[in-house]
Amino acid sequence: MLEHEQILVRRGSRSGLPVILALHSTVLGPAAGGLRLWHYPDWRDGLADALRLSAAMTLKFAVTGLASGGGKTVVALPPGTRLEPAERRDLLYDVADVIDSMGGTYRVGPDVGTSPADMAVIGEVTRNVFCRPRELGGSGDSSPHTAQGTLAALRAVSRRLYGDGDLKGLRMALIGLGHVGQHLARLLAAEGVELTVTDIDPARTSIAEELGATWSSPEEIISTDVDILVPAALGGLLTSGIVPDLRCRAVVGPANNQLDTEEVAELLHQRGILWIPDHVASAGGVINAITTELHHFTPDQALARVNGIEGIVTELLETADDLRITPARAGHEMAQRRIRSGSSPRPR
Ligand code: PHE
Repeated sequence: MLEHEQILVRRGSRSGLPVILALHSTVLGPAAGGLRLWHYPDWRDGLADALRLSAAMTLKFAVTGLASGGGKTVVALPPGTRLEPAERRDLLYDVADVIDSMGGTYRVGPDVGTSPADMAVIGEVTRNVFCRPRELGGSGDSSPHTAQGTLAALRAVSRRLYGDGDLKGLRMALIGLGHVGQHLARLLAAEGVELTVTDIDPARTSIAEELGATWSSPEEIISTDVDILVPAALGGLLTSGIVPDLRCRAVVGPANNQLDTEEVAELLHQRGILWIPDHVASAGGVINAITTELHHFTPDQALARVNGIEGIVTELLETADDLRITPARAGHEMAQRRIRSGSSPRPR
């Protein structure tokens, strides 16, 4: 069954590259979602990613109580492509044209592979863009807020596991030191967490050194003995093959689409590993961008809303207990309730 409201694939007139926009739902409001600029073996893989990522955005907004719907844009770069600055500009204009053609039903933001500077370029063409640099009137980099939201989720999980939201002395393994991962590593180190970290880029060992964290390899970190595993890289980490190797009590992180397939949530549950749905643990960035840019919250009000993720995770765990379902299902359940109650009757 086609779940998405609209899917648009266009070969950029300037770049020649495939621009894919998946609009999953506008039931709760105009859709929002990031622009992912990434390499895929085939553009159809980028399409598959856009379909999954945009559906997750709908859940993200529904669970966090924002009046927005889910969408995502993916530009599927052929493997090995490197964009010169002028080519990147052309591509961003191609993306901007597609976004502008949506007439306000979708608004883009940054995601893997894009930044506030890219949003500024898109903003030359269309108003429908979040997270332009602050000098230009946008809310800037969303990654510190995403990291802050994950920290809030981790507190709720710590309270659940150990009866205390204080993270000091807990052992965590953080996978991925990209924009969000680096911020999160710093926050966790400041909380006194005993950190093991990794990244596919070996140059990032310097971050581990700076924070006094242990460096591990991307292969080995999965099975380190820790309290909480924190995925902060690309999705699809949690496969059925990996579950038996895990040696943690919980998996909580900001990476989008962590589960390879939905069934993995059941496998984790059977092993007694608590998994918090990524659409909740990663919501801090959009919460900040949308509340400040659309609803005119002050930074403090936005921060309070981001920290509210702690309460949402607690509610989610209670819902899971009450209904005797996995946290993954509870996340869907909470989102569906909101979508049902937020959807207005169709006009005749
Ligand atoms: N990358 C963000 C996410 O997945 C997308 C986003 C950020 C959209 C900020 C709008 C504003 O949640």
